[in-house]
Amino acid sequence: MGCRFDQIIDRRNTQCVKWDATAEVFGREDLLPLWVADMDFTAPEPVIEAIKARADHGVFGYEIKPQSLDEAVMDWLKTRHNWAVDPNWLSYSPGVVVGLATAILALTEPGDRIVIQPPVYPPFFSLGDQNDRIVVENKLIEKDGRYTMDLVELEEIFRSGVKVMILCSPHNPVGRVWSRDELLALGELATKYDVTVLSDEIWADLVFPGNQHIPLASLSPEIADRVITFMAPSKTFNLAGFYLSNVIIPKETLREKFASQVQRLGNAHSNVFAPIAAEAAYRYGGPWLDELLDYLDENASYVQRELAKIAPKIKVVKPEGTFVLWLDCRELGLPSEELNQFFVEKARLALNDGSAFGESGAGYLRMNIGCPRSLLEEAMKRLAQALEGYKK
Ligand SMILES: Cc1ncc(COP(=O)(O)O)c(C=O)c1O
Repeated sequence: MGCRFDQIIDRRNTQCVKWDATAEVFGREDLLPLWVADMDFTAPEPVIEAIKARADHGVFGYEIKPQSLDEAVMDWLKTRHNWAVDPNWLSYSPGVVVGLATAILALTEPGDRIVIQPPVYPPFFSLGDQNDRIVVENKLIEKDGRYTMDLVELEEIFRSGVKVMILCSPHNPVGRVWSRDELLALGELATKYDVTVLSDEIWADLVFPGNQHIPLASLSPEIADRVITFMAPSKTFNLAGFYLSNVIIPKETLREKFASQVQRLGNAHSNVFAPIAAEAAYRYGGPWLDELLDYLDENASYVQRELAKIAPKIKVVKPEGTFVLWLDCRELGLPSEELNQFFVEKARLALNDGSAFGESGAGYLRMNIGCPRSLLEEAMKRLAQALEGYKK
């Protein structure tokens, strides 16, 4: 019997970026979309039920976030991440990117330096650039496909004067789930040099067996005082279209600065459905998530096995978390533009261009594996055929 995640759901004509914007972005109609980081799965049933019940009410005025949502979030953080969060620390934002932008505006001035660790989620660059901050790159170190932090360089950067760093934990696109030692080292540097870490932990729940996500702020009270943590039900339960994320700020002065900026932007509310979806997901979505993680883990193994057979020049290290694979295509010897062209024109696959994640991403592609396995089988078939043609 197939599992629920095997079911193909036609997402076309649902105003979804991944399927409905592919032709416009990539210039062809016949591509299999494996780009934007949401999944082709329905949300957990209790979420759908809760949304339907709210829709049936028919009145959609201004929303509040009930205390029961705070409780559901805090229970989740305690059970899943062993992190006891005080209710005063918790607030919400219409998405993690909005939360990061709010924190940057609250804590830095134009011309200030912000550290990021490429290759990394593209908005980390644009949030700095577009707000006239200077983005300082502390590139990850890659060895045999596995990435680590360059903590020596990070200390030099911190020493030369930085107010804020954006951490991606777990890391999109390289799939690392940072270890306790790595996070401790980072936290100690942030404490020593008085740097506030905006810890983007949107992928916290999507971690494969054998790995454990550790919230940076849970390491010690000293570290917690330097951290704003962003988490969300969006990646975890495939609810990105609701635009709701959790912001956790233990230190009161930081919390006040963040809250004032939210007020300045007039950005304190979400849509009426988001809190309902989030609460149902956190309360009842655990078993769905456990099944999902097994499925994604097998998806990752499947693509890794297939690529080793059909395209041994494309290297992929199995991620420790997330639902994206970071494909090292450098051995194909194609400049970025030709690599993208090959995947679009020959393989008819829409993947993210690695160079969008920073110059250290050139020669890479990011593949989203949050879809039924049969779509990945189709993708591997298309790639094998394209490579056959390419060899001739
Ligand atoms: C690291 C990271 N942060 C934030 C986001 C997007 O967050 P949101 O949709 O809540 O703004 C993504 C989406 O892929 C992501 O990978």
